[in-house]
Amino acid sequence: MVLPSLSSASSAEEAELDRLRTEVLDRIKAADPRLAEVVRAAVTHLHAFVREVRPTEEEWLAGLDFLVRTGHACTDTRNEFILLSDMLGLTSAVDEVNHAGPPEATPSSVEGPFHSPAPPRPLGAWLAEGPERERGRPMVVHGRVTDCAGTPLAEATVDVWQADDAGHYDTQDQAQPPGNLRALLTTGEDGSYWFRSVLPSSYPVPTDGPVGELLTALGRHPMRPAHIHLRVEAAGHRPVTTHVFVAGDPYLDSDAAFAVKDALVVDPVECDDSDAAERWSMKEPFLDFAFDVRLVPLPEVAR
Ligand SMILES: [Fe+2]
Repeated sequence: MVLPSLSSASSAEEAELDRLRTEVLDRIKAADPRLAEVVRAAVTHLHAFVREVRPTEEEWLAGLDFLVRTGHACTDTRNEFILLSDMLGLTSAVDEVNHAGPPEATPSSVEGPFHSPAPPRPLGAWLAEGPERERGRPMVVHGRVTDCAGTPLAEATVDVWQADDAGHYDTQDQAQPPGNLRALLTTGEDGSYWFRSVLPSSYPVPTDGPVGELLTALGRHPMRPAHIHLRVEAAGHRPVTTHVFVAGDPYLDSDAAFAVKDALVVDPVECDDSDAAERWSMKEPFLDFAFDVRLVPLPEVAR
């Protein structure tokens, strides 16, 4: 005699699950068609999840409790749900479906949680005004903002933010003055921008909340490879928010936020000759970090 399995679905159970899902979907009468579409898809996928995973009631409540604790971990300056979205690759997936562009355009990448208004600074400014200026490896970052055909874009704004050589942003570290390692730059007539700073370090995302617990339970590390954030805007062009990653970082292949793209990885050149140092008003040795940004023109109708 073959006993029915307790863990697999019977045809009666399948029929009841179908009826349940259909009834939930049929009750969606939202006036907003996009809301109806989004909730229908969420209900369909979540019911399929229950069918596949067959959670026990304790497991289901543990999942709900995780979401409650994620909400409780949020403050005015910390969004644990964004962190959860980043750590599951969902922020990068949403970025991908919203920023398709020609292959010659600079790819976008997630904004992350550390952007804040940057002080306007002149081209060539030193962004490192805290103790990292003495400790860190000095670098000059430079490039041109152009359209996809290479035409320079003057008066474009380049919003820059980065961590220091210890992996901390000014908002996390009281030793750094407010606005440290941030700048709002405006490109010159030839579309060029440049600034001086210190090489950022890789850093861990916050691990003292429920998302950190999840990473540990999943056997994942919390590290992000060293990077500089850029948000570039020019009239008549689609803005881009992106990262520039430092080649050779040990976490490039396992970014906790899944934000690395090959076109965004730059290998800084070690410079120790005095002519190059004089050109950039640096003291040798320093790192030369070149990154051009190519923006997608908006259609004429959108201007
Ligand atoms: Fe960052």
